[in-house]
Amino acid sequence: MTIALFSPLSLRSVTLKNRIAVSPMCQYSAGDGFATDWHLVHLGKFAQGGAGLVFTEATAVSPDGRITHGDLGIWSDDRAAALARITAFLRAQGAVPAIQLGHAGRKASMQRPWFGNAALSEADRARGDVAWDIVAPSALPVADGWLTPRAMTPADIARTVEDFAAAARRAAWCGFDVAEIHAAHGYLLASFLSPVSNRRTDGYGGDRAGRARALFETVEAVRAAWPADKPLFVRISAVDGAPDGWTLDDSVWLAGELARLGVDVIDCSSGGISGPATAGRTPPPGFQVPYAARIRAETGLLTQAVGLITEPAQAAAIVAEGKADIVALGREILSDPNWPLHAADALGAESAFESWPQQYGWWLARRR
Ligand code: FNR
Repeated sequence: MTIALFSPLSLRSVTLKNRIAVSPMCQYSAGDGFATDWHLVHLGKFAQGGAGLVFTEATAVSPDGRITHGDLGIWSDDRAAALARITAFLRAQGAVPAIQLGHAGRKASMQRPWFGNAALSEADRARGDVAWDIVAPSALPVADGWLTPRAMTPADIARTVEDFAAAARRAAWCGFDVAEIHAAHGYLLASFLSPVSNRRTDGYGGDRAGRARALFETVEAVRAAWPADKPLFVRISAVDGAPDGWTLDDSVWLAGELARLGVDVIDCSSGGISGPATAGRTPPPGFQVPYAARIRAETGLLTQAVGLITEPAQAAAIVAEGKADIVALGREILSDPNWPLHAADALGAESAFESWPQQYGWWLARRR
């Protein structure tokens, strides 16, 4: 029986062995932007666990674009070099190495979650975590208690666009096969899109085409810098979830425009413009899948679905029913890094541990 979840997917010259992605997840464990052994082991175990596509966390294109001092960065060649052994290991395990490129905008200069998850303050200096000046489309904080950003000038925007392009060039050089631009969760590019956070009156604000201009320029620059035979994803918040915010209709329009600019996959998340992405509510399983399904149906673009996808049958149905082309797992795969291998077994897509790394599978097949 063919199970679409476990069928390969070709994107330009890159083939995923299955439709299971590890969603980008910040680890707050980098040293001045450099990847550490933590990242190698953390990402490596998902590749050993059978995921077809393994994303790094949001990797900052400039130092001020980090959420915390612990974020990965790719604003210099030596930081890219520190990622090369990770991409080599992921590839050796049969996974496609993917990087999410991000700039945190007005949600930068934060404490690591376990140190408080709030804006960096004087109290954090003792740990060496010094706050920095943050930028955004408009000088509006996310909410009370958050830092107030400086409104970017057109020259700031042009520099950030070039930072994304330079980051994409480095990402290709150090071995990534998929790049994703982070335009979700209220970070810099999402904050340009949303009328909640973008009150500019110049060409980067106003109507939705104006608010999307910073993202379009970023996509154009990245697409030109990123090899033509490698796929480009964009993660969006399909809805802001805030009153008078960005809507699903806006996202359908945006996806069509992004397709024309050479984007291959829209990764459909939501929320985050006014604080944490799912603040104050416990969403139901697969709550963002309808966004991926509608964008896919109305634009013909490929989509990645994410958000409380935890069960093998649930993931299989999303792909089989044409709601998304790829399913991304976050917290569930933190809990079980071998989720793809277990799902293949549960769904009958494999037998006798044949797709497990032989270092494990040889033994486990004989234990039964
Ligand atoms: C995240 N998420 C996230 N999203 C993103 O686009 N870039 C990122 O760097 C991060 N970082 C991050 C860290 C951690 C620890 C978690 C748990 C989440 C969001 C994540 O990719 C995913 O969209 C959500 O977690 C929803 O999926 P799950 O966890 O319900 O499968």
